[in-house]
Amino acid sequence: MFLENFLAIFILSSLTGASADNCSSCVSSGNIWCVESSQCNTTFSSCQTQITVQLNCPALPKYAYDDSFMRTQQLTFASASHGDQIQKCFGNQIPTMKLFKLRAVTCSEGNANFTCRGFTAYDVTQKVIVLSFRGSSGTDQSEQLNNGFINEGIQWYPDINGNIFKDLRSLKYKYPGFELWINGHSLGGMLSWVASSYLVTTGLYKAEDIKVVTFGSPRLGDYDFAVWYTNTFLYSFHIIHRADFFARQLRIDPHTNTTVLYHPRTQIWYNNYMNETDQYEICKQADGNYCSDTVQEGLSMWDHIYYFNVNMPAWGRDGCPKDRSSYAQQ
Ligand SMILES: *[C@@H]1O[C@H](CO)[C@@H](O)[C@H](O)[C@H]1NC(C)=O
Ligand SMILES: *[C@@H]1O[C@H](CO)[C@@H](O)[C@H](O)[C@H]1NC(C)=O
Ligand SMILES: *[C@@H]1O[C@H](CO)[C@@H](O)[C@H](O)[C@H]1NC(C)=O
Ligand SMILES: *[C@@H]1O[C@H](CO)[C@@H](O)[C@H](O)[C@H]1NC(C)=O
Ligand SMILES: *[C@@H]1O[C@H](CO)[C@@H](O)[C@H](O)[C@H]1NC(C)=O
Repeated sequence: MFLENFLAIFILSSLTGASADNCSSCVSSGNIWCVESSQCNTTFSSCQTQITVQLNCPALPKYAYDDSFMRTQQLTFASASHGDQIQKCFGNQIPTMKLFKLRAVTCSEGNANFTCRGFTAYDVTQKVIVLSFRGSSGTDQSEQLNNGFINEGIQWYPDINGNIFKDLRSLKYKYPGFELWINGHSLGGMLSWVASSYLVTTGLYKAEDIKVVTFGSPRLGDYDFAVWYTNTFLYSFHIIHRADFFARQLRIDPHTNTTVLYHPRTQIWYNNYMNETDQYEICKQADGNYCSDTVQEGLSMWDHIYYFNVNMPAWGRDGCPKDRSSYAQQ
């Protein structure tokens, strides 16, 4: 009797698919979770949103996404870091913010002309310290980044130049209770993920005191990195504008044709010009064929340059003028 019941249950469950009532336990047993029907199965004949890895089990971020905060403050930092008029940007947009130090280092073994740049700033009114990184400079540097991955695969860069972290240490010593905001556009966003990881693993900062915001940043880490980063940084948004070409780079290792790189959470996708009051999607998945990655045709370099309907490098280089209208996308 017992055995018959057991067999009946066994046969039933193998007919109806795996018995798991949530996404996490479903995918960890090697099956696929269907979001719309909340079913777990080995395959689906029709299911719109299929989840195959734990990282993508639907979840919303712990902290609210604030469009206005991104559009005013975070956009200003990530744009200012493109140019040499950082304090002027603050004067125009965030008058209480003060530039501390701008740093630049050679960040390519092959070409001393390729530099990575970042600045530190602080604001005693908002009680915040800012660390911001510039995006890649020119197509050469972007190509070098892509080619490095395509030719060499995932690489390990052991040298992180200490100067900007020295500046940060001085600021933290002077303003111990202040929150830290880390941000950047494009390559600057990748450096934000690296720097925040470095600060937390070395113990200089606690992740709960850090807010990370990136704009149009390519993937830089593997699955385990994305899981670790997602679990560590609860305030971390990476904003993607419409069909931004760079934000969709790179996922597949061409040597094996397998997916090796993943974005950490949480993606915010604006499928429009990012004008004020434009809608956005808070992506419940971390990274796969969801949200911005549902669009694979017509990827655009212009959508990479414009965020919140501002040409970030041009606006930043000009000192972030109050009137943004001449920097809008055509
Ligand atoms: C998923 O189900 C497993 C097994 O029933 C349970 O241990 C786990 O807490 C559940 N997770 C969530 C997020 O509900
Ligand atoms: C579940 O998987 C089985 C076996 O592959 C298949 O026959 C069945 O149609 C699937 N169920 C759904 C809802 O797709
Ligand atoms: C670096 O820049 C200088 C000045 O623009 C140029 O002459 C030189 O060829 C560049 N070096 C490389 C390796 O691109
Ligand atoms: C990867 O896929 C491409 C396109 O389908 C194919 O041309 C190439 O040979 C594949 N490479 C490997 C290593 O499987
Ligand atoms: C949004 O931005 C686009 C491109 O700059 C512009 O053509 C359009 O008029 C804007 N819409 C609103 C409502 O501001």
